[in-house]
Amino acid sequence: MVISCWGALIRKLLMMRPQVVFVLGGPGAGKGTQCAKIVKKYGYTHLSAGDLLRSERSKEGTEYGELIASFIKEGKIVPVAITIQLIKKAMEEKMAQDSAKNTFLIDGFPRNADNLSGWNNHMNGYADVKFVLFFDCSNEVCIERCLERGKASGRTDDNAESLQKRIQTYMQSTKPIIDEYEKEGKVRRVDGAKTVEQVFLDVQKIFDSEN
Ligand SMILES: *[C@@H]1O[C@H](CO)[C@@H](O)[C@H](O)[C@H]1NC(C)=O
Repeated sequence: MVISCWGALIRKLLMMRPQVVFVLGGPGAGKGTQCAKIVKKYGYTHLSAGDLLRSERSKEGTEYGELIASFIKEGKIVPVAITIQLIKKAMEEKMAQDSAKNTFLIDGFPRNADNLSGWNNHMNGYADVKFVLFFDCSNEVCIERCLERGKASGRTDDNAESLQKRIQTYMQSTKPIIDEYEKEGKVRRVDGAKTVEQVFLDVQKIFDSEN
């Protein structure tokens, strides 16, 4: 009796754990577009570290708002421990509203070794990384798309010079993280050079077989 109660409790706790998909790929590989489609079709919650930082900073009386503002003011990177806490808090809030909403997409993370160790230090045992969705796209295609996007959206970082830097950072810092996850068999690769619709067909195959 006691044992079966524990079994049920453990099952419940395991089920409630946040189930996370990291979404990685170069600039312009289609992460944002595909995330929106995944959210719509599969009910995942999309989390972006940048958005969480901005929103924490802009709201009055938040736990980390002032601290974040002071790092940014001094031109320093906000420590990964803080950003991870924001991600954790966002997950907890979502799951408190609706315990069935325990699937999350984290876009553009982990983009370097510091991000990854921050995640491992604070989230191991709390959340499970289901897999890494990798939009594989050549640098040429990425650059071309971002330049097009820059013309239309006016995103100031979508210019040739800053793109070169972003691609370099991606190759140096993010690609090795993807390679690490690949060794663990956790990478689900999608050809990101195809059209939005074709890419989403491939994405659906992955999510349909994982869920
Ligand atoms: C990941 O690293 C980048 C670059 O150092 C940093 O800007 C970002 O805040 C980090 N992400 C998290 C969640 O800490």
